[in-house]
Amino acid sequence: HNSVTILGIETSCDETSAAVVVNGTEELSNVISSQIEIHRRYGGVVPEVASRRHIENILYVIDEALEKAGKALDDIDAIAVTRGPGLVGALLVGVSAAKAIAFAKNKPLIGVHHIAGHIYANQLITEVQPPYLSLIVSGGHTELVLVKADGQYEILGQTLDDAVGEAFDKVARTLELPYPGGPQIDKLAQQGSTSIDFPRAWLEEGSLNFSFSGLKSAVLNYLNQSKQKGITIAPADVAASFQAAVVDVLVGKTKLAMEHTGMNKLIVAGGVAANSGLRQALQETAKEQDWQLHIPPILYCTDNAAMIAAAAYPLYLKDDFADMSLNATAYLPL
Ligand code: KG4
Ligand code: ZN
Repeated sequence: HNSVTILGIETSCDETSAAVVVNGTEELSNVISSQIEIHRRYGGVVPEVASRRHIENILYVIDEALEKAGKALDDIDAIAVTRGPGLVGALLVGVSAAKAIAFAKNKPLIGVHHIAGHIYANQLITEVQPPYLSLIVSGGHTELVLVKADGQYEILGQTLDDAVGEAFDKVARTLELPYPGGPQIDKLAQQGSTSIDFPRAWLEEGSLNFSFSGLKSAVLNYLNQSKQKGITIAPADVAASFQAAVVDVLVGKTKLAMEHTGMNKLIVAGGVAANSGLRQALQETAKEQDWQLHIPPILYCTDNAAMIAAAAYPLYLKDDFADMSLNATAYLPL
């Protein structure tokens, strides 16, 4: 097969990103313009503000990605864009830009599922052949997915309430840490002890689903009760104990899913895969269980467009193209 150069675009949340990737594996550029600083003052992502910022940034980000890759639009074989899930107004900016370029340059258009992007991020580091299990942990998702073949997914378990990153961000807010809270909790946890016994939601026997809202409430209750009793709390211990509870459940259920499916390859994806406690626990378990473990470097765990271009490559090979009716979808099954 000749080499296939894909321009990827990602605007599902608070990063405006464009990237050029060859054959789904070789990254020529990956430009990420983060809005974190803007949303921090509101304590979270404000959808309307995010959309406006994407509009202001998108063309510059695309130009920079092409320039860094040393490519012109004419050198690009297809335009790939995140079509969902995510903030619909934010997604629409990327989808509209991608459609405009595809139409103007008469190039194939590929709509990519954001979570498929997170899974394929790993292909930019090491190529892994399906079947494998994927643990997806982000601000919007907590899922155990069996990747049977390229583009063929079976969801084995998912969260029944909060996503794990959401739980990190909410607990961080109650500890008055800045947005996004995940990295802050991670840092704080490294100085604390896991002395507080927060609940682990295992759900019914054998369940591969997750629940984090009870844990979040338990942390809140602990903080409120300590305040009422006039007890000074150690925020680092709260962070460490909360993180330990999350990691226990994530690793425990992943182990169960690996056993159920008979898999020995695991790919971890999404923003929370940046968590040092989770990375360490997974590395230890992988060693003990003899798993082939793939956790991408932190840059490829959080939102970026190279992962979207990587996930688009198998779709390109199958001629799985979108037309000008491609739309942004806030809730989209994998
Ligand atoms: O994948 P991502 O960049 O965006 C979504 O698609 O959601 O994930 C963002 C989430 C946020 O909730 C953030 O707090 C969390 O990932 N996160 C972390 C860490 N770094 C990012 N959570 C725990 N520990 C970290 N080091
Ligand atoms: Zn994401």
